[in-house]
Amino acid sequence: MKILSIETSCDETAVAVVEATGGFIDSKFKILGNALYSQASKHAEYGGVYPTLAKREHSKNLVPLLQKALTEAGLFNTGSVDVNPEVDNILERETELLEQFKELIPKTAIPDIDAIAVTQGPGLEPALWVGLNFAKALSLVWNKPLVPINHMEGHILSPLFEDGVQIQFPALSLLISGGHTQLVLIKDWFDYVIIGETRDDAVGEAYDKVARMLSLPYPGGPEISRLADEARARELQTNKSLPRPMINTDDYDFSFSGLKTAVLYRIKDKELTEIKKLEIAREFEDAVVDVLVKKTKNAIENNGIKTLILGGGVIANKEIRKNMIILARDSGVNLLLPEFSMATDNAVMIAVAGYLRLIDEKVKDQQPYGVAGLSADGNLRLD
Ligand code: KG4
Ligand code: ZN
Repeated sequence: MKILSIETSCDETAVAVVEATGGFIDSKFKILGNALYSQASKHAEYGGVYPTLAKREHSKNLVPLLQKALTEAGLFNTGSVDVNPEVDNILERETELLEQFKELIPKTAIPDIDAIAVTQGPGLEPALWVGLNFAKALSLVWNKPLVPINHMEGHILSPLFEDGVQIQFPALSLLISGGHTQLVLIKDWFDYVIIGETRDDAVGEAYDKVARMLSLPYPGGPEISRLADEARARELQTNKSLPRPMINTDDYDFSFSGLKTAVLYRIKDKELTEIKKLEIAREFEDAVVDVLVKKTKNAIENNGIKTLILGGGVIANKEIRKNMIILARDSGVNLLLPEFSMATDNAVMIAVAGYLRLIDEKVKDQQPYGVAGLSADGNLRLD
């Protein structure tokens, strides 16, 4: 089965074509085409993702990315296709996208794909709508089924992209990105309970905000991480004076805004020397790691977890990866750690989730996969 997938939940615009075969325990995936445009540098001057800009960039880039992904997959051919007038209504708010759509699609042959998977939420709602409306229009014009996907499910299932990877249930997923910090208990395929989440800032958001306090560019996560690594390499003396918020509460929730404020007080009225920045970066990262490890460890022990799945942009962090590898080993759980390009937002993971949804009989019976009535949902939950 060939799946065209679209992801626009945040500041990455992504379109992929993935070929999938097999069942739940022997699924195999192959990327035929993969086109991704990261808007990060455009948002840098705002110090974070600026929703209106994200929406505009998605609107501008989706059609070229579609063409690129289809071309890479060898599925882009000239042809003649009638564009249903309903497309004008579907893409009414995406003027630039509509224009490009009407330019390209009528002279492009219907590609040999079986379904279209698209991120429905969670994320920035205006950004999500662009991808969803684009997918709706394509689904209508090409007469292909549309599968709405929860972005977080995409992260959870992304390690399955690699051959031979299996999830044993119950599984636990730690999802850490600029927008999310969640511990998800996975009892069976598509059966999720969010057992813990952040009560304020997401981990990546805290990294980005602390980076800003240290006058480091956006996205700040990699910057802080680099300084923290350097502090470790230089064996700088640091103390554990920063708080580990909620580390001893008997739930699986997180809070990072207090930690961020503590950093602010630490640097207030002080000269920020290079050494001081290294120390702060390391102390902040150590505090984050302690909390993430402790909560994940509790969740593993209390739920008889067999597989631990990590996902989200923050798992690029070396120190977090290292400590999660140790935790998984000590707890005797199987660790699924997607490679970096699969851990950050991408469309391939949406195709992986889309395929598994499509081969699931229960889900197939429940969902007509119609286009009408499907809405983007910025707060879409897994449970
Ligand atoms: O998943 P992602 O690409 O986008 C979403 O937020 O959905 O994650 C981006 C976040 C940013 O906050 C960025 O600062 C953080 O991941 N990040 C890191 C590292 N690389 C990216 N945080 C800590 N250490 C890193 N090495
Ligand atoms: Zn994400």
